[in-house]
Amino acid sequence: MTALTNTNILLGITGGIAAYKTPDLVRKLKAQGANVRVVVTESAKAFVSPLALQGVSGNTVSDDLLDPAAEAAMGHIELARWADLLLIAPATANTMAKLTHGLADDLLTTLCLATSAPIVLAPAMNQQMWAASATQANLEVLRARGVSFLGPDQGEQACGDVGPGRMMEPEDIAMALAETRQIQQTLSGKTVVITAGPTREHIDPVRYMSNHSSGKMGFAIADVAQKMGANVKLVSGPVNIDFPEVSHIDKVNTAQEMLDAVMNQIDDCDIFIGCAAVADYRPTESVDHKIKKSNIELTLTFVRNPDILATVAANENAPFTVGFAAETQNVAQYARDKLQRKKLQLIAANDVSQKDIGFNSDQNALTVYWADGEQSLPKSSKSEQAKQLLEIIIERYNNEQN
Ligand code: PMT
Repeated sequence: MTALTNTNILLGITGGIAAYKTPDLVRKLKAQGANVRVVVTESAKAFVSPLALQGVSGNTVSDDLLDPAAEAAMGHIELARWADLLLIAPATANTMAKLTHGLADDLLTTLCLATSAPIVLAPAMNQQMWAASATQANLEVLRARGVSFLGPDQGEQACGDVGPGRMMEPEDIAMALAETRQIQQTLSGKTVVITAGPTREHIDPVRYMSNHSSGKMGFAIADVAQKMGANVKLVSGPVNIDFPEVSHIDKVNTAQEMLDAVMNQIDDCDIFIGCAAVADYRPTESVDHKIKKSNIELTLTFVRNPDILATVAANENAPFTVGFAAETQNVAQYARDKLQRKKLQLIAANDVSQKDIGFNSDQNALTVYWADGEQSLPKSSKSEQAKQLLEIIIERYNNEQN
């Protein structure tokens, strides 16, 4: 039994070279226990034979919205209702553009409008087409509407280019779908704003003050929240890790920029999670030339940065606000103090004096505090911590709404 057992997957195939891999994709999905029906676009038929797809799926392949015989067998509305999940692989730039604008000029795009099932796209296209601002804008719109994306992968392309745009391998698509189905869609319809990573406070044009946050913890929360169905808006300081696939990303440097980006997103935010390691201070003066060495001591003075978390919590229509506490001693006492002082619903504390958890490590061990309770999460990967933390947040959030 896998997470895809008895899941009805409607596989839409559009016209890209990667379509030749789809008979294998059907086999991989069926090996996980899924029932697969296939819809091809006109141009997909240039790359893969419907007969081969019929053979591997065990079902007639649909390709025409206006074919009376096909409509009599299983009409397009019936097909849309049958699906537990609609996967388009490969998804071309043209298909993404059509979905963005709600076009319904063939069977597949019509099904996308007619289904209430989650839609997952595995894009495949030339790297320049993927990078094109029109495609990136379509990606953002579709993500904000709750469409999920798998890939594209990086690598050598059929046209000889190298870069992002290869369809994920069939096995990886099947595995990723199974993993996503395992996570319940408990944040569906909710907007979650998350801060992650460090901030950099500039001393002069070439120097800054920062900290060791890698962004891993915040990115793990963003990734899991998006998989739980949330519309995730991530505000990240400068990091060197891959960004998760979420609805919207703002990249910032300073605490003030992070505050501005957060406040732009806060109006329709249901849950705010402040995981960023925000610098509490910035240099009093911003010097616009490089400070030169001299023999005398250098003294810098600092002023307080705005407190992003406290600002969000004090907002008139404040979302459910979750903070983090990075402590090296008296963890419980300092965390509870921040919970009260910053008027938060919940705070997740980690002991950052330990080398194997906290800053920059792949693991963490959080203790979560709320007004009348607490729960410790034993040490595990940041992904697992994120999942368990979000489960606690959802339970407390739902309690508060009822
Ligand atoms: O990024 P990683 O390498 O994965 O590391 C993860 C982490 C250790 C950074 C993370 O788990 C963590 O503890 N984040 C909070 C770090 C921190 O700044 O803690 P703090 O105790 O100093 O701040 C308390 C809370 O106030 C935090 O939610 C912080 O985001 C917020 N804050 C702090 C200062 C400020 N000016 N504005 C804020 O919003």
